[in-house]
Amino acid sequence: MDIEDIIKHLKNKVAPNEDEIFLVNTTINKVVNKLNDEIKRRNINAKVEVHGSIAHDTWLPGDRDIDVFILFDPSVGKEKIVTEGLEIAKSAFPKYIERYAEHPFITAHVDGFLVDVVPAAMISDVSKLITAADRTPLHSRYLSSTLNDELKLHARILKLFMKNIGVYGAEIKVEGFSGYLVELLTVFYNGFPNFIKNAADWIPYKTVLPKEYENVFNDPLVVIDPVDPKRNVASAVNLENMSIVIQASRELLKRPSLKFFIPPKPRILKKSLITSLRKRGSHIVVIVANCPKVPPDILWGELKHSMKGIARLMENYEFRVVDSTCWSDENKIIALFYEVKELKLPKIKIVKGPPISMRDSCEQFIASHENVWIRDSTLYAYSQRNVTDLLTLLKNKIFAASLSRHIAEELKRGFEIYIDYQVLNLNGGLLIHAKKFIDKSLWWLKD
Ligand code: CTP
Repeated sequence: MDIEDIIKHLKNKVAPNEDEIFLVNTTINKVVNKLNDEIKRRNINAKVEVHGSIAHDTWLPGDRDIDVFILFDPSVGKEKIVTEGLEIAKSAFPKYIERYAEHPFITAHVDGFLVDVVPAAMISDVSKLITAADRTPLHSRYLSSTLNDELKLHARILKLFMKNIGVYGAEIKVEGFSGYLVELLTVFYNGFPNFIKNAADWIPYKTVLPKEYENVFNDPLVVIDPVDPKRNVASAVNLENMSIVIQASRELLKRPSLKFFIPPKPRILKKSLITSLRKRGSHIVVIVANCPKVPPDILWGELKHSMKGIARLMENYEFRVVDSTCWSDENKIIALFYEVKELKLPKIKIVKGPPISMRDSCEQFIASHENVWIRDSTLYAYSQRNVTDLLTLLKNKIFAASLSRHIAEELKRGFEIYIDYQVLNLNGGLLIHAKKFIDKSLWWLKD
């Protein structure tokens, strides 16, 4: 099987079927009509347009968030565009959650679909840009002139590839490749096979597309927005996700396989988890608490910050942290995972003092320590550790760590700690994430 065979095989699988297209179109009509009614009722001069992957015809079956824009004349000004746009959206869809990108927008649930309603200015080019969202209609215009049917298929295949290797999405949770970035890369490389061939040779901080924009941005990957050369569309892509794409592309080139597109279901064999735990010698610590009621972007930002804060606390008490990650179902549970070298430390530790040449410092060191000795030309002493057990540290001092507000609030309400084999008592998504964290290996690497 080669990459062309894969494309042939996926052709009818990555595009939505007629029933799904009908369902999406019905919902779009409903959403657009509701917003237009509201605009008319208020006698406002604004236009409703659908953008994003639904408009570009690059959406994946089952993955069909609808992006709707309320576009105002730029002369209205940013403040009024945002307030009036939000009012229209909120009265049209009373059941919504308010979210923030550069400016607020709402997400409404309509007939099982997630609909983002975003206020923006209707502009003809970026020199007249008022809000970051104003670029989106220009993106649609650019893509409608560059994406033909074949490239649309290739964009869908590239999205699926990115999704399965875990790098799809520019949100804080993932820090990966947005839908628009995938579409641009498909256009830039003129299709999926050529994308794979080139991505296999990407170099973080050196790959700039197109080349003329070298030395303008300092990001792992730079892809210039064709509608706004001042913007790097790949600014959200972190080093790890770029590296994953590079290696996965090399693997696909070496051993073309459908597994990247139809991945095996993760199997959790508790026995194999026990073997991995026994083999490693290090320890796994998982802190589990209830999930705060905040939008996903805030939640993931706070989780990542708090995860690092607790790792620093452990390091400050000399427990060596090898690796960490976090997980949430964005509803009920949050979890922070750590791999540490030790759960217990000796009661005493050796403190290195000044060299013998520093007379005053030596006097001070001797005065403040018992049991001082000299090795070569340096003073040493024993000192007592006040915390020798990691579990005690976490139970008693977790709030000394740098924690984000909502995570701290939830931890104050209570948390549980699972250590090593206790991880086997976790279930659902938590257990799957624990397995990934413990095994580490990338499922698509080798057979
Ligand atoms: N957008 C952008 N830069 C991003 C993310 C989004 O410019 N990092 C703009 C693009 O104009 C894009 C639109 O927002 O077309 C909608 O993006 P999004 O909702 O993230 O995803 P889709 O492109 O619709 O992709 P899909 O729903 O298939 O994941």
